[in-house]
Amino acid sequence: MQIVKMTKEHIPDILKVESECFSDPWSEAMFLEEISGKFSHYYVAEIEGEAIAYMGMWSLSGEGHITNVAVAGNHRRKGIAKSLIEHFIDIARKENLEFMTLEVRASNIAAISLYESFGFTQVGVRKKYYENSEDALLLTKFFGE
Ligand SMILES: CC(C)(COP(=O)(O)OP(=O)(O)OC[C@H]1O[C@@H](n2cnc3c(N)ncnc32)[C@H](O)[C@@H]1OP(=O)(O)O)[C@@H](O)C(=O)NCCC(=O)NCCS
Repeated sequence: MQIVKMTKEHIPDILKVESECFSDPWSEAMFLEEISGKFSHYYVAEIEGEAIAYMGMWSLSGEGHITNVAVAGNHRRKGIAKSLIEHFIDIARKENLEFMTLEVRASNIAAISLYESFGFTQVGVRKKYYENSEDALLLTKFFGE
């Protein structure tokens, strides 16, 4: 497995991962816009030339906003998300970010456990944030403490 910058060639694979992972998947146009953003970092995990996972973050004003992390169903629990997060923590440290933050569904135990294992803690709740009225938890990892 290797972690490389997301390019437009990865998008067909990533759209498959995305539709498997989310009820409201991002489109090709959204990924194209995201990867060309001035403040964006998007990386994929590749196995034998196929992108099977990705993670994204915007970094601006000393803050890292994680936009998404997703791993194909048949590649889960093999440490792939863990490797992606380690990669992004390295980026955050190199850019001297003060913190990294994200929103996650309150029911998403897998993602919450994953982030907590990296020292992210809950700093807030957005009530009924999602389309099904589910709450979003705000999780943040502070650097330099
Ligand atoms: C959440 C997700 C990214 C985890 O990816 P993954 O590659 O399977 O995670 P890893 O194998 O790197 O797991 C690392 C740690 O996260 C936690 N974790 C991962 N999946 C878990 C699960 N189903 N239940 C509980 N803890 C879990 C564990 O602490 C795990 O460590 P362990 O395997 O040593 O116990 C994956 O389940 C996924 O793509 N889900 C759908 C998309 C999604 O919900 N994204 C998050 C949006 S904020």
